[in-house]
Amino acid sequence: MRVNSFKANNFRNIKSIEFSPCENINIIYGENAQGKTNLLEGIWLFTGCRSFRSSKEQDFIKFDNSFASLELDFFGNCRDQIAKISIEDKRKAQLNGVSLQSSSKLVGEFFAVIFAPTHLSLIKDGPSQRRKFLDIALSQLKPRYANALSQYNRAILQRNALLKDITYHSELLDTLEIWDEKLCSIGTVITAERIRYIKRLEPFIEEIYGGLSNGKEVMKVSYQTQMKINSKTEKELKQELLEQLKITRKQDIFSGTTSIGPHRDDLKIEIDGLLARSFGSQGQQRSCALSLKLAEAEIIKNITGQQPVALLDDVMSELDNTRQDYILNHIRGRQVFITCCDPSMLLKMSGGKAFEIKEGAICTCI
Ligand SMILES: Nc1ncnc2c1ncn2[C@@H]1O[C@H](COP(=O)(O)OP(=O)(O)O)[C@@H](O)[C@H]1O
Ligand SMILES: [Mg+2]
Repeated sequence: MRVNSFKANNFRNIKSIEFSPCENINIIYGENAQGKTNLLEGIWLFTGCRSFRSSKEQDFIKFDNSFASLELDFFGNCRDQIAKISIEDKRKAQLNGVSLQSSSKLVGEFFAVIFAPTHLSLIKDGPSQRRKFLDIALSQLKPRYANALSQYNRAILQRNALLKDITYHSELLDTLEIWDEKLCSIGTVITAERIRYIKRLEPFIEEIYGGLSNGKEVMKVSYQTQMKINSKTEKELKQELLEQLKITRKQDIFSGTTSIGPHRDDLKIEIDGLLARSFGSQGQQRSCALSLKLAEAEIIKNITGQQPVALLDDVMSELDNTRQDYILNHIRGRQVFITCCDPSMLLKMSGGKAFEIKEGAICTCI
């Protein structure tokens, strides 16, 4: 996957931009609030996914204008293609001259991964952010997972409602048995897929984080659940989940919530055996989040055969020279866009292209 050229008109603070990046590292630099993140966001929209920032369509259109347009000339699926997005009251998309039903139909045409400072919440915040990371990554790759997840979330809501009713109507206990059986079947699909996904992440995480820290630190990821998951089949996992639900049933009826299951699990992230969330420095946490994102890209590549473009927004701050050097010079085999404020970063880069952005326009290209 490669961006050949990108155009934007009246998008955020960008009046008009057209640029042709190189096929490896591209630095977008400039002072604060000049449009660096806006430019990455414009490219990201071609993945067909929601923006990583505000998602009101009107916000994309440059103030005092009524229309924004974006154009991406890219190499994907073994050929050069042109995608266009126009934003008026709605977002519309075209691929190779053909109008698409909606811009979300671009999903699967142009692949990218985005690292934005908000993704640090992946490491710093509670388990729900990490479950979300797994859920989004898996839903994109496996329709079976997306399906199971929405069924599971509904089933949890219904079970919780039932738990509250049981306090007054004990005859509903039989119905609970039926729900638990259903919940465990779907819950097992989710747990098993997450465990498989984390196993696939492991070698990439080891390699990428190892590269970032110059082999000095080891990052490990593992699935954290109350179940004992060592080499279990889906059947055994389901049986165990059922038993666990029985054990916690009294407590669940008392609290009106379901205290065990994949909606309570976590992705455990450690550096040299210590929890990154509690003990990692800012730079280590940033490196962990970046490693997760780049490992996610490797899995997309393995499954789809296409290497996603990496969009790295403000990834350099708080990283030492070794880590910056790895990002600038050693992420190989893919196109990367990196935004930063500090032009001295360019001196550390061998090869690649750099673009300075000022007041929403590209003013220098090196
Ligand atoms: N719809 C819009 N119209 C005009 N300017 C906008 C719009 N949306 C955001 N901006 C402006 O874009 C600027 C931020 O751009 P951004 O790309 O986030 O900066 P940075 O270069 O620091 O990454 C802000 O000054 C903001 O006011
Ligand atoms: Mg920015």
